[in-house]
Amino acid sequence: MSKLAIYPGTFDPFTNGHLDIALRSVRLFDHLVIAITTNAKKTPLFTVPQRKALIEKSLPEGLDITVESFDGLLVDYAQERGSIILIRGLRAVSDFEYELQMALLNRRLNPAIETIFKMPSEEYSFLTSTAVKEIAQLGGCVDGLVPVAVKAALIEKFNNNL
Ligand code: PNS
Repeated sequence: MSKLAIYPGTFDPFTNGHLDIALRSVRLFDHLVIAITTNAKKTPLFTVPQRKALIEKSLPEGLDITVESFDGLLVDYAQERGSIILIRGLRAVSDFEYELQMALLNRRLNPAIETIFKMPSEEYSFLTSTAVKEIAQLGGCVDGLVPVAVKAALIEKFNNNL
């Protein structure tokens, strides 16, 4: 049986930390689906199709990774996709409480679901999409923090020279 894992998130935008987690995860499974939620809590900077395109452009070729979007509950989407494995990145202790709550709630909603936590490389342990957006908006340099396609999209969005 082929093993499919789902890496869900808002990915607004996809960072090198997300990429690091995706690359570490795909080595463990036959296929990885990066799943973008359409019901983001905050107003996103990029639309779902834009985020999907940016992630696709950021992934190295030849990997068993696809990018999709979902609405509604993550556990329902996982069931539809025939996967019980959710991947989440865990950067620091500060992530733990939120991630624990989400993992346990998802397990409560569907006891078959397993959440697997992956630690990114320490160089990305401080990196968040929110910080990247703020840096880019204020004209700071995001080199090394996001894939080149995302950097270009941020420049276009904020119309400045990073
Ligand atoms: O990148 P994020 O914003 O930390 O990802 C959070 C995400 C998208 C994984 C979470 O908000 C989610 O699963 N949303 C879908 C709706 C859902 O299932 N909510 C219940 C989670 S306990």
